[in-house]
Amino acid sequence: MATDEQKVTPGTGPRHVACIMDGNGRWATSRGRPRLFGHHMGARRVKEIVRACPDHGVKYLTIFAFSTENWKRTQSEVAGLMKLFRRYIQREARDLLAEGVRVRFIGDRVRLDDKLVRLMDELELLTSRNDRVHLTIALNYGGRDELGRATKRLAAEVAAGRLSPADVDETTLARFLDTHFLPDPDLVIRTSGEARISNFLLWQSAYAEYEFIDTLWPDFTKAEFARVLGGFGARDRRFGAVTA
Ligand code: IPE
Ligand code: IPE
Ligand code: MG
Repeated sequence: MATDEQKVTPGTGPRHVACIMDGNGRWATSRGRPRLFGHHMGARRVKEIVRACPDHGVKYLTIFAFSTENWKRTQSEVAGLMKLFRRYIQREARDLLAEGVRVRFIGDRVRLDDKLVRLMDELELLTSRNDRVHLTIALNYGGRDELGRATKRLAAEVAAGRLSPADVDETTLARFLDTHFLPDPDLVIRTSGEARISNFLLWQSAYAEYEFIDTLWPDFTKAEFARVLGGFGARDRRFGAVTA
């Protein structure tokens, strides 16, 4: 839904940008390096992009780090990614705190290992008073999985008699989603030339603008980020209405 908080003045930049950080594997392979090397270089870009957000009025940045489908990869790639996530949190926590970044995670934590979940919880708590940039990391996230989990919780409320089926509408469902604390994304950027959304923020992106760019994520600089954000202002977002 486009909430009041969500609406952007025409000609201005997006408040909430979501990124499908794709192309790490191809970036590494084309250099004769293991795919994990690409993931490491991709993680470095995250810092650059997060830091650039305040300069462009981007208050919310949501990044797709690991999908519910990514478990299909080799055991070694999955294990390497999980280790990278743990190390990323351990290494970046201090800077994120100091730079005013509030970090939150979306996705199903049940399948993640205990150590990683503990680090995620700690980082959320540590940065919970920050408000300069809201960074949301989608980890073991899938839009359909999220809707399934939300529906299950909603149904349990109905079964317990705390919610009436007659009162269930879009707003109710949105409250049960992992993203209940976020406005909808204004702009979704996918790198690496693939023009698909791969199960990312299905509900939330109903009225997002999309940018599919050829650059592989490890090559995605803050200059290119600025260029993409600049193009957003020219778009006529009608939300189904007719503009004068
Ligand atoms: C995106 O890069 C990162 C994750 C999905 C974890 P990929 O690993 O999908 O890179 P490509 O698409 O194989 O190049
Ligand atoms: C989407 O990229 C998931 C992340 C960026 C974390 P994928 O590389 O997994 O998506 P597909 O397989 O190309 O659709
Ligand atoms: Mg990919």
